[in-house]
Amino acid sequence: MSHQAKQLRYVRPESGFDLDTYAADQIDQIRDQVGDSKVLLALSGGVDSSVCAALLAEAIPGQLTCMFVDTGLMRLHEADQVEAAFADRNVNFVRVEAEDRFLAKLAGTTDPEAKRKIIGEEFIRVFEEEAAKLGDIPFLAQGTIYPDIIESGGGAHGDTIKSHHNVGGLPEDVNFEALVEPLIGLYKEEVRALGKQLGLPEYLYTRQPFPGPGLSVRCIGEVTKPRLDTLRLADAIVREELDALTTPPKQYFAIITNSMSTGVVDDTRVYAPVICVRAIDTVDFVTAEYVQLPHSLLSKISQRITSEVPGVSRVVYDITSKAPATVEWE
Ligand code: XMP
Repeated sequence: MSHQAKQLRYVRPESGFDLDTYAADQIDQIRDQVGDSKVLLALSGGVDSSVCAALLAEAIPGQLTCMFVDTGLMRLHEADQVEAAFADRNVNFVRVEAEDRFLAKLAGTTDPEAKRKIIGEEFIRVFEEEAAKLGDIPFLAQGTIYPDIIESGGGAHGDTIKSHHNVGGLPEDVNFEALVEPLIGLYKEEVRALGKQLGLPEYLYTRQPFPGPGLSVRCIGEVTKPRLDTLRLADAIVREELDALTTPPKQYFAIITNSMSTGVVDDTRVYAPVICVRAIDTVDFVTAEYVQLPHSLLSKISQRITSEVPGVSRVVYDITSKAPATVEWE
């Protein structure tokens, strides 16, 4: 079946939503839509899919399987953290180790849109295969939210800016009967508010967004395990330093660029990748300002990355707002 026509037509009602009744309304709608069938949820551990899981767990307890695919494109230790966060919840949690598969499919690809499409398709293929092992699961739930739709060209006025992996990247011949997307009309802050209402732990509904295609969109050029490992270590340093601020920016992370530069490590010249640090503040992620971090903090981050992460020659800071730049580099 083709979901794309349906998804790309979605337009949020002008009056918005009443968040006091949103959860109850969605719970009714989910029950109407799925009856007593089983639902498979793509759980990434991000805000959107976590809130989606909480809503579905309330609506259809016992019918929900949360599948977490370890794509190999997650941040440092993230896969283990997601597993730990959901291990004790009242859902059927399945972890799929798929790093080798994703990296094999991505090998040699450098075009950003091609990467997104490969990842979107591979996600669905993994779900189909794993769902088949679980028996009859006709519904696939996704934590798609309204900005995903707008940026994929599906809002009221949309040209495609980027295809989001969970919208533009869906293949045409998906084997699920239908999608369940209970957050599709919501903006991010509304999703967080809903997460709070549903009693999720604060760290799950306040965490900064992380793109569906994961670190692939922050690994400029070819996505390989060594490059991802370098990025993961640099990114962990950026997050550790900025997490410690009293009011951290809305989103902050590292990018491994496809620029190489010369450096000197232990008196030896090296020619190695340039790491970029990005930190932005925003209200709605439709526009964003780069954050004027103190130079002392930037220096500390730079020193830590160049001394603690092997194979980095240089660290730069991105001082571009959105627009003209997007938040992610790809
Ligand atoms: P951009 O780069 O479009 O990012 O200014 C805006 C927000 O969306 C996140 N983002 C994505 N999220 N799939 C996602 O689920 C994607 O393909 C994707 N691309 C960007 C980005 O991290 C930022 O919060």
